[in-house]
Order: sequence, then structure tokens, then C-alpha cells
Amino acid sequence: MEDLNRRTLIKAGGVVGAAGAVAAVAPATPWTWSPANSLPGRGAGADPRTLWDDEADPVIAKVIDSGQAPKVNKLLRTWHKNSQPLPAGLPPELRDFMEHARQLPSWTDQAKLADAVKFNQKRGTYLGIIYGFASGMMSTLIPREARAVYYSKGGWDLKDRITKTAKLGYDIGSLNAYQPGGEMIVTCLKTRMAHAGVRHLLPQSPHWVHSASENIPISQADVMVTWHSLPTTVMRNFRKWQVPIAADESAGFLHSWQITAHMLGVKDEYIPGSWNAAESQARQVLDPIQMPTPEGRKLADMLLDLGMNLDLTLLSRGVLGALTRFMLGDKAADGLHIPREPVWTPLLETAWTPYVLVREGLLNVGMPREAYWMIDEFLRQFVLFYMSELRMPINIEIPVFNNPK
Ligand code: HEM
Repeated sequence: MEDLNRRTLIKAGGVVGAAGAVAAVAPATPWTWSPANSLPGRGAGADPRTLWDDEADPVIAKVIDSGQAPKVNKLLRTWHKNSQPLPAGLPPELRDFMEHARQLPSWTDQAKLADAVKFNQKRGTYLGIIYGFASGMMSTLIPREARAVYYSKGGWDLKDRITKTAKLGYDIGSLNAYQPGGEMIVTCLKTRMAHAGVRHLLPQSPHWVHSASENIPISQADVMVTWHSLPTTVMRNFRKWQVPIAADESAGFLHSWQITAHMLGVKDEYIPGSWNAAESQARQVLDPIQMPTPEGRKLADMLLDLGMNLDLTLLSRGVLGALTRFMLGDKAADGLHIPREPVWTPLLETAWTPYVLVREGLLNVGMPREAYWMIDEFLRQFVLFYMSELRMPINIEIPVFNNPK
């Protein structure tokens, strides 16, 4: 039972300590996914809900506690490219950690990464939409993630947080993501360090609501749950929309995300070795845990205002809500208190799949022109928005404070 919030806990007489709202809950079902399904095909089999990041966490905690985080963040604003040397002046322990953590795993396969590029080029438009409105909105339904984001700096400045997360989605799909001229190693490593910062800071928040089994946020298991809201959810949607994906491109896309998990600090024994293995893990760890929380609802509400103040008429709250309902289903949308939209909900339900098939050249009849145009125009506006958000320099940083609210 994960659906806790500070008010209901207080009402129920739960313990609300100085370090956040905590209640004793029955231990969740154990992690039973076998390392035999993982990339290396073996592992010690320890429960990843009790593992965090033993390399990054102590180093980043020291950087924060010694007051060096602002200086480190400033230095790292100049560090963007995978092959770029680290800036001078970093604390030696941090530098050692980063030099080690920036190395790609020995199992990196450049040919597979080239196939991932083909996939990203062909499917880029849909990918932006799925990352935003299936993965991004799904994150508001993952209770531990929603609460971690809501009570950290990310919840205080959600727009900034979304732009930074979009950078990861953009970088992983770029031509040279993991090549020397790309930025994905840097983006992953900075994210890994931001997560370590959250692990150190969030337990100090008087507001953070969490279950007793989660004294430290963002465990290895949590990262894999969120991972499934990304690539596994992408593949599920492509299957649902009947988009044919070439086997090499599908394998390449998986590979790029396996590397990403590794670069975010996940141990290889928890990274699925195939799409079937990913499905089996997602069914176990992602599907059963999704549920609305007060924090998730507030985040979803803020996300729907993304297009506000923009001159892009189709990115209104109503349309974005309809898209969320279409991507995540009625139960999830109702849970997030997102209403049906009278024009776009039925339009997407009836016309999205034919639109995709027409666009893919797999269907050439039965699609009203107006419906095709409306969806096409929506996608165009979304791409414009997405790209304009990414035009400014974006710096993922070690957080130095929690959400003060
Ligand atoms: C920060 C991506 C898993 C909670 C970030 C950032 C990125 C990112 C790109 C930097 C954005 C920023 O600095 O605001 C990912 C990816 C994940 C993942 C790709 C898994 C594959 C998780 C999980 C949680 C989480 C499982 C919580 C349970 C947070 C929080 C921040 C953050 C709280 C910091 C926001 C802030 O205070 O600035 N993540 N994340 N993330 N992530 Fe994750």
C-alpha cells in the first residue's frame, strides 16, 4: 500500500518525524525477477530495492555537505561533450569518480547504436510524444517517483525539471549520442550525480512523504521502474499502433537504453537482456504499482500547463489532457482527474491509429482529411515546442535544496 500522503498519515495517526512523513507499511512483495534474464545472464540476486549507488552517493554527499556543490555545478556548466576533458578545479574524489563513471561498459556495441540512430530518425516525432505524454505522465503515476520529484527541487520548479528531462530524451535520440562528439555520457553522468544529490537531500526534508521501507529514495529498483516507463512503454505503444519496427532497429533502441541504465549507475544484473526480459520485468515492477497520489495529481496538473503562454493553439490543456487519456487509458486519466475533452478524446480514439498507418504508408484510404490535418498539425506544434525548449543551454546540476513548500 503505497498511497500515503502527509495529511492522511497525520489523520491516521501515522508517525510524522522531522525527516518527513513516515508510516509503517507492510513490506512490498519481494523482487523476484531473475538475473538469468539480465544482460550478463547472472548476478548475486540481491533485492535492488535495498541498493542505491554506492559509488556516487558518498562522493556527492560530501560535495554537498562541504558546501562545494555550487562551485562544482558552475565548473560543470562548461562540460558538455562525451570526449571533453573534465574541467580543472573539481574536488579530487569527485574527479576520480567521474573519470571512472564516464567509461562506456565493455559490452557497448557501436553497430547496435548505429541501428538505434536509424530507429530514432524514423520514429523521432512519435518518440517525443510518447516520452512526453506516455512516459512523462506515467511518472506522475509512479508513487515513489512522483513524491521524490514533488518534494525535491524538481517539484519547486517543474518547468526547469521537464526541460532537463527532455534533454535526456533528445540526447539519446541524437546521431552521435554515445560517440565522442555526442552528449549522452555527460547527460547520464550529470543525472546520476543529481540522483545521488536527491538521495542525500530528500531524507532531510520535513515534507517528504514516503513509506517506511523507503528511507532513501531512488533505489536501483526504482530506476528500473522508471526505465520501463521509457523504452518499454515506447515499444508497447508502437506495437499497439501496429507500427512495424525492423528487428535490428528494435534491438538497437533497446541497446541504447541498456547503456543508459548502466551509465545511470544501475548494476548490469538488473538490466534486461532482451525485450522479452524487459516485458517480464515491467509486468512485475511497473504495471502493478501505478496509482494516483496527491503529489502525482499536482505534478500532472502542472504538466498540462506546459503549453500555456505559447502561441501554439493546439498545445492547450484540453488537448494535452486528451493525449494523456489516449496514451495512458481512462483509468489513469480519471485517477489524475484529467477530464475527457469533447473533440480531441474521440478524435484520437478513432483517428490516431489510422493516422499513424497513413503516415507510415501502410494505409491510404478511410482517413478523413480534416482529422489527418488536425493530428498532423498537433504533432508539428509539439515538435516546435519541444525544439524551442531545447534551444537554450541546459545544465543538469547537483541539487542543493529541496522543495521548500
Ligand atoms: C533528476 C532522468 C529515475 C527522481 C533527473 C534528471 C534527469 C532524470 C534527466 C535531471 C533533471 C533535473 O536536474 O531536474 C531520469 C531517468 C531515470 C530516472 C532517465 C530512469 C531511467 C528516477 C527515479 C526517481 C527520480 C526512479 C525517483 C524515484 C528524480 C529527482 C530528480 C531527478 C527527484 C531531481 C530533480 C531536482 O530536484 O532537480 N532524473 N531519472 N528519477 N530525478 Fe530522475
